[in-house]
Amino acid sequence: MANTKITKYICTECGHMTTTKTGKCASCGSWGTLEEYHEPEKSPTHSSPAPRAKIISALDVQPPERLATGISELDRVLGGGLVPGGVVLLGGQPGIGKSTLLLQAAGSVAKYRNAPVLYISGEESDSQVALRASRIHTASENLYLYSGSSLDGALRSLDDKNFAFFVLDSVQAMSADDSSGWPGTVTQVREVAQRVIDCARDKKIPAVIIGHITKDGKIAGPMMLEHMVDTVLSFSGEGYSSYRMLRAVKNRYGNTDELGVFEMSEDGLVPVADKSGLYWNRDDSAVSGVAMTIALEGSTPLAAEIQTLAVRTRFPYPSRTSRGIELNRFQLLTAVIDRRCNIPANNHDLYINVAGGLRLQDPSADLAACAAIASALMNTPLQSGTCWLGEVGLAGEIRPVTRIDLRLKEAARLGFHTAVVSSREQVKFGGIKLVRVPNISGALSGIMKH
Ligand code: TYD
Ligand code: MG
Repeated sequence: MANTKITKYICTECGHMTTTKTGKCASCGSWGTLEEYHEPEKSPTHSSPAPRAKIISALDVQPPERLATGISELDRVLGGGLVPGGVVLLGGQPGIGKSTLLLQAAGSVAKYRNAPVLYISGEESDSQVALRASRIHTASENLYLYSGSSLDGALRSLDDKNFAFFVLDSVQAMSADDSSGWPGTVTQVREVAQRVIDCARDKKIPAVIIGHITKDGKIAGPMMLEHMVDTVLSFSGEGYSSYRMLRAVKNRYGNTDELGVFEMSEDGLVPVADKSGLYWNRDDSAVSGVAMTIALEGSTPLAAEIQTLAVRTRFPYPSRTSRGIELNRFQLLTAVIDRRCNIPANNHDLYINVAGGLRLQDPSADLAACAAIASALMNTPLQSGTCWLGEVGLAGEIRPVTRIDLRLKEAARLGFHTAVVSSREQVKFGGIKLVRVPNISGALSGIMKH
């Protein structure tokens, strides 16, 4: 009889399966991402009898008991801490600080909860991890280390003690003995992740898996990795800054809009509590083209400084350069200023920048951007101690923003005395002077020529 075994190929980007090896994936269009697929061996748990449908209202709705790591910013992003049996995937570029963060978290749980924690390192040797642990003062007698790339060995050592949780560093470095292929291939990554998930569920303890990301920001390996786990966190940093941002991309046990900020120091990652200071240099000197707003990152208000520079153009078409605000949005707001406030922008090159590398996606920064543009074009500074909160429409109207009271409270805390807001805004907070304006020309009447 002829050999009927067909070789299958899987795309490492999207998980698409095919029987012909082509250069380009027919599903997602990526080049050179198809690799041979090996069927994973079925583990006994896969063949257990299928569960029956249940009535939702009859189910237990106890909120999960959480294991706080004691690292405030991490716990907040997780929604209060790790969940027993839940698996978190922490993604980030190499060198960003993933191993450092989780070694700190593991050490913190081991020390303060007086419970054994296992750190599995497939990338670094015993001495490298031990050196790092002593550098960041996290070594303790409850912190255990398994170093090596054999997943079976690592999971076996989980039986040695009643571990409170474990970290797997990283999913790309480990290999399951009964699965073929090099560590980091799709088949291996999937098998490793599945075994860790099964193990965490069986033992009812939380697990955190580290995953490297590729240049374009995706977790290396199959996309389905993100579908398999309960929570996906992304750890990132801008250029040469020592600040690191932690966000939840997916969270089955909490919301995904919290932002955690850390500073990488000699002693590891230090949580940054006052985030508004990050993007604002608190310089009071009045300079034209500078306007302040309070942006929201999840539920965290952040003071953001928008800076604009207007330079007489030498070209037939004036240029527009933007960093931190989407270019189309910047062009639209410039057109609104030109048309609705009669401030001509055509003979100026314009540059806009949000200080500190912050990216403003929220339309509530429109009014501040408009104020900065108008101030730069008129070469007139805005009144200091004022922040601008509003979305600007094409008709020049100013619309209310979300969670105004939270933003105003932060503005008052930071020492702003005035906030320019939409006349339709409903405000409860009374700790700051409000200037209510219906449209952009009303908001900018102070700096416009009469
Ligand atoms: P690491 O946690 O190894 O990154 P990842 O696991 O994401 O690849 O951290 C790497 C960088 O962090 C390394 O270049 C040195 C720096 N670092 C500090 O600045 N301070 C410290 O205390 C530690 C442990 C690392
Ligand atoms: Mg690492």
